[in-house]
Amino acid sequence: MSGARKRAAADAALAELRSGQRLGLGTGSTAAAFLEALADALASGRLADVAGVPTSRATEVRARELGIPLIDLPADGVDVAVDGMDEVDGALNAVKGLGGALLREKVVAEAATRFVLIGDDGKTVGRLGERAPLPVEVLAFGVARTEARLRALGLTPTLRGGATEPFLSDNGNPILDAVLPEDADLPALAAALDAIPGVMAHGLFLGMADVAYLASDGDVVRREADA
Ligand code: A5P
Repeated sequence: MSGARKRAAADAALAELRSGQRLGLGTGSTAAAFLEALADALASGRLADVAGVPTSRATEVRARELGIPLIDLPADGVDVAVDGMDEVDGALNAVKGLGGALLREKVVAEAATRFVLIGDDGKTVGRLGERAPLPVEVLAFGVARTEARLRALGLTPTLRGGATEPFLSDNGNPILDAVLPEDADLPALAAALDAIPGVMAHGLFLGMADVAYLASDGDVVRREADA
């Protein structure tokens, strides 16, 4: 996805924001474009008095560089969270987490009154898991057992980064990237993953997004979850 498309989707998503709001700030290259769009909106006075909850250390660092005020996640949540995705289907169900920030992203998305996805229209799929693996953040303790539980659900997990130098999330946890079976029942799978004690979070964001801004060449399409 080109930088121009990311920025176009990010700029369009500014329409969801109002001055005085508390925001969730996503992670990834498209979310980074949104940070720049937000910083520009604050500099121009289009928006004022907003504060954001970063979903990763990378987002925190970039937001500070851009002068975006940051807060911890308030007990009563945030008004709007804006984030990218790895795949999105026609109902705005998404796979997230290739950037490794899925756990904090999910905590913040769940805490948001409105959850806004931004990205390239090319991330639209007919079936989640079609192109991207499903990231599953797991506790390092007992990882072999957790991996076996995933296999029993029909998933094919691979430890991100490999056994000798595994990738660790900002939370210090490894991630298993799992290939989904074509006939996966996603709500049932999400519930089954949620019930595994060693699973900290999985990248299925089902029924969470309210709206998506999807950029194609020269155009950004706004899609509502219930459209
Ligand atoms: C981070 O954990 C991910 O959920 C990202 O939001 C997602 O991978 C999209 O990233 P890009 O905008 O860089 O494609």
